[in-house]
Amino acid sequence: MVCGELLAGVVIVGDAGSALGSLSTVVPGVDYSGRVKLCYLDPPYNTGERFAYYDDRRHSDSWLDELRDNLTAVLPLLAPNASVWLHLDDSEQHRARSVMDEVFGREAFVATVIWQKRLTRDNRTAFSSMHDYIHVYAPDGPRAWKRVRNGVSDDGAFANPDDDPRGPWRSAPMTVQSGHATRSQFYTVVTPTGAHHEPPPGRCWTYTAERLAQLDMEGRVYWPRGGNGKPRLKRYQNESGGLAPFTVWGAAEVGDTSSAKKALLRQFPDRPAFDTPKPLALLERIVEIATDPGELVLDFYLGSGTTAVAAQRLGRPWLGVEKSSEVVEAFVLPRLQAAYNDGARAGFGISRP
Ligand SMILES: C[S@@+](CC[C@H](N)C(=O)[O-])C[C@H]1O[C@@H](n2cnc3c(N)ncnc32)[C@H](O)[C@@H]1O
Repeated sequence: MVCGELLAGVVIVGDAGSALGSLSTVVPGVDYSGRVKLCYLDPPYNTGERFAYYDDRRHSDSWLDELRDNLTAVLPLLAPNASVWLHLDDSEQHRARSVMDEVFGREAFVATVIWQKRLTRDNRTAFSSMHDYIHVYAPDGPRAWKRVRNGVSDDGAFANPDDDPRGPWRSAPMTVQSGHATRSQFYTVVTPTGAHHEPPPGRCWTYTAERLAQLDMEGRVYWPRGGNGKPRLKRYQNESGGLAPFTVWGAAEVGDTSSAKKALLRQFPDRPAFDTPKPLALLERIVEIATDPGELVLDFYLGSGTTAVAAQRLGRPWLGVEKSSEVVEAFVLPRLQAAYNDGARAGFGISRP
């Protein structure tokens, strides 16, 4: 159950605000300050609906006050280059973003991910909403965070037709838009077979002639069409840090609400459905982007426990808070037990302050 100095997984049953304010007494002997690398939050959206396991009707001001208080309480828990992901729909997302600006600073904004949550049309409404928003903030700033975040998996085809000792590669164009170019990026490239190439209109070469020659000497340039074509850069599979994630995530890649609900219903056919679970694939993608194995994940609106299951499966310690003991008993604990039985490395504990 212990991972480094941290418990590998702890579910706190109780109110997020109280739990965050008294972590040292709720989980004695563990100091969470400066340890949280990813905080993912999927609070009730304030939709005005009543769900089977929780009520989602609040006055907007009090909903925002709670969000502000809880985000402020998270600040001292964040590790260097941590990120906070807040998942919402149109009910409060625009006001919530202002609160995030206030708590973390406008310059901490990284991106808003649009997640395709539904594929079927709802004809009862003027527009059929099919997406949620996930606002991503990095208090140390997006540039610093980009250096530590993981890219998404690069499944593109790599091959090694020339037995390059650096391993499989694929090639990418060696031109860029010429907006910020220097004069040294405009020149005539002469290929190994003597063909001449200018950069295409509106573009320039990525590298200066000297740098291109050096890359070519190192064997990192691919000349297509038997040496007649424009130079292309060899990108090696083992040097690829993954791709920059897109800001639109489709249901086909990470699941939708319906697939997440169906998965829970298959696992717990005898219980009233939990209305708002997130797909495991969505949370696994977030955990993989924002953390490395061993880094702490926090979710203080844990719901059916998807974040904890994703973290557990991926070898990240986690801390979850959920107000409803019924939800914890019905979903969180059995899901974690199943993940543990499936071979997820860490154990977990439960705290009922
Ligand atoms: C949208 S659901 C989270 C769903 C979750 N991401 C999942 O995949 O199952 C929001 C959850 O927050 C819980 N909740 C609401 N207010 C809370 C509070 N003040 N403290 C802790 N949990 C709270 C609700 O009981 C509900 O289970």
